[in-house]
Amino acid sequence: MTDVTESQESVQPGGAAESTTTGAEITLTNVTKRYPGSKNPAVDDVTMTIPAGKIVILVGPSGCGKTTTMRMINRLIEPTSGTIRIDGEDTQSLNPDKLRRKIGYAIQQAGLFPHFTVAQNIGVVPGLLGWDKKKIADRVDELLDLVGLDVDTFRNRYPRQLSGGQQQRVGVARALAADPPVLLMDEPFGAVDPITRGNLQDELLRLQDELHKTIVFVTHDFDEAVKLGDKIAVLGNSSKILQYDTPEAILANPADDTVAGFVGAGASLKQLTLLRVRDVELRQEAVTVSVDESPAAVREKLANSRHLYALVLDRRNRPSRWVHARDLPRATSLATAGKPLRDMVSTQSTLQDALEAMLAEGGAVPVTGPQGQYAGTIHLETVIDTIQTLREERNDDGAAQEEQ
Ligand SMILES: Nc1ncnc2c1ncn2[C@@H]1O[C@H](COP(=O)(O)OP(=O)(O)OP(=O)(O)O)[C@@H](O)[C@H]1O
Ligand SMILES: [Mg+2]
Repeated sequence: MTDVTESQESVQPGGAAESTTTGAEITLTNVTKRYPGSKNPAVDDVTMTIPAGKIVILVGPSGCGKTTTMRMINRLIEPTSGTIRIDGEDTQSLNPDKLRRKIGYAIQQAGLFPHFTVAQNIGVVPGLLGWDKKKIADRVDELLDLVGLDVDTFRNRYPRQLSGGQQQRVGVARALAADPPVLLMDEPFGAVDPITRGNLQDELLRLQDELHKTIVFVTHDFDEAVKLGDKIAVLGNSSKILQYDTPEAILANPADDTVAGFVGAGASLKQLTLLRVRDVELRQEAVTVSVDESPAAVREKLANSRHLYALVLDRRNRPSRWVHARDLPRATSLATAGKPLRDMVSTQSTLQDALEAMLAEGGAVPVTGPQGQYAGTIHLETVIDTIQTLREERNDDGAAQEEQ
């Protein structure tokens, strides 16, 4: 870490508000780690490809070798055998210090230097790379902004003056400082409360939308894996890969009982992302009116129903607005009365999408079929019933397996 003579290397600092370095593919080939004096290898013959620009999650029980696997990528731990390539380059052929400056690293409890300010913490790697003071200061401000921390408030604070979630944000900013193509994140959000954790996860996804880094992310938490991962590697002892696939594929089809155990209790809720609106019952009870009808006619229709709202369909039968009974006396045309739809779903949407739309729209959400035409409404009760059924099916399966 003290070697500053190699400062002229090729890492290009991002200019103001731009990040240019996108992800690099990482390949592990027959990678094994034996710690001296241990009977079993901590990591045994692991071969996997981590695609460029994707988030790959390593999930598995405590002690299974996740951290060891991750730290071999930046050579904080040296493999006993096997090859790791980043962007085709064998990491053994690189100077380890140089390698580590191209790989951002964020860990639980942020691992910030306690006697450095926030700005000094974020500026560590750029400093080692020999950037000038002005460039480092600009980069620090840019990164604080990127991770949602107010520059003037936080730049000169010390880690102990930050909340856990703020420390994690600084940790992420520090990992991103030199705009590395690869980020290694070892349970980075493990030590914060669930709400902060959810926010940090959302932020990471937002950042990744902009940055397209290759991110290797370790967690114990399968929900976190499903939320963040483009792919998930479920690991057993010695980092044996039990399943390596998209979250959807793993949820729908766990490779074996161990993986199924990991998928765990929240599986029915997670399965909402795998079910489509077309798979559940739609209701036809909403009052629908054509945009060409008169407000008076709609008042009458609503008066004859038990509903307070009508769904306005355009001339091609596509849902366009909700109009409330109380909007009608003053309305001149249904084209402008009431409120435009905030959200709707199609029969192709997932039940997760539908649930999110319900949170925006209220209890019932219009569903469109082919050509965007109105197909009915989907209701919160239907989603809740579906979750219940999935849960029961899962319990039945579980019970059947235990009996065998
Ligand atoms: N420096 C070391 N010397 C000897 N054994 C070690 C060393 N570091 C880790 N191990 C062992 O290697 C195995 C894998 O450890 P590792 O830290 O990679 O697990 P992990 O999956 O990250 O666990 P956790 O989820 O608890 O963080 C464990 O059995 C651990 O005891
Ligand atoms: Mg670990």
